[in-house]
Amino acid sequence: MKVIAAIDEMTRFSQKLRCDGRTIAFVPTMGFLHEGHLALMTEGKNKADHLVVSIFVNPAQFGPSEDLSTYPRALDQDLEKCRDIGATAVFTPSADDMYPNGHETYVVLEKLPFHLCGLSRPVFFKGVATVVTKLFNIVRPHAALFGEKDFQQLAVIRRLVEDLCFDIEIVGVPIVREPDGLAMSSRNKYLTPKQRPHALLLHRSLTAAQKMVATGESDAGKIVALAREVLTSCADIRLDYVSICDPASLDEIAVVEGAALMAIAVWLGKTRLIDNQMLVPVP
Ligand code: PAJ
Repeated sequence: MKVIAAIDEMTRFSQKLRCDGRTIAFVPTMGFLHEGHLALMTEGKNKADHLVVSIFVNPAQFGPSEDLSTYPRALDQDLEKCRDIGATAVFTPSADDMYPNGHETYVVLEKLPFHLCGLSRPVFFKGVATVVTKLFNIVRPHAALFGEKDFQQLAVIRRLVEDLCFDIEIVGVPIVREPDGLAMSSRNKYLTPKQRPHALLLHRSLTAAQKMVATGESDAGKIVALAREVLTSCADIRLDYVSICDPASLDEIAVVEGAALMAIAVWLGKTRLIDNQMLVPVP
């Protein structure tokens, strides 16, 4: 497995594979890899001849008061995991190379960021869209894999690939959960033993919402109210949003008839947690 830090070397490596007629699947990550990331990589290996993973904690997607400096890092273990899974290359650029002095071009979407996480994290999707665009230009993959855990991020990437005419297949991968239901996340590491059981309330509130829908409730207001009640049964949880929305536009919906996404973001102490689930009405 090649570990490549230099941008031009990564591009040359990919170009060589492409010239040899090989296909490339790409999994961008910020490292501290867990089973969720590994599911993307496994899917990537099935999709193409070669798997390229990037590990880069992207400063542009963190707000000034967010956790850039404390974001968990474990490069050696991450490289081991990539090797075990059979990645061909891991791209580990530096922030100075990705954003050198004079860098001033960003990729900004006009509508999708003004929903869900984008409302409380105003620079987040600008940073994600910019770094993913740069990574696509550097790695030049045929397919790229993203987790449904970050549903809005996946929607943003699908939009930008279409709008900017990237010839890349975007593959969404279902959420990987701990055995007790907590969605895996690098940020779960921040949770104290006392907070950890409270984190289960996200999945529990989604499950309660789905049960309500399955028994015939279609009033989104009532379903959101129940989920809020489940979440706020814990005094340590501070809600960011609980939303039922159209999975394509992310606009809020009032009546659950067809496809509807329920998405949640909360603060548990200093840790921000997100989760989501599609609500499936009775046929
Ligand atoms: P990161 O949080 O490291 O996540 C990398 C990829 O793993 C994302 O596509 C994310 O949705 C996916 N992922 C994380 N937890 C998952 C889980 N439990 N189940 C399934 N997939 C999961 O998302 C980012 O990094 C960054 O924003 C990035 C796209 C790399 C741009 O910097």
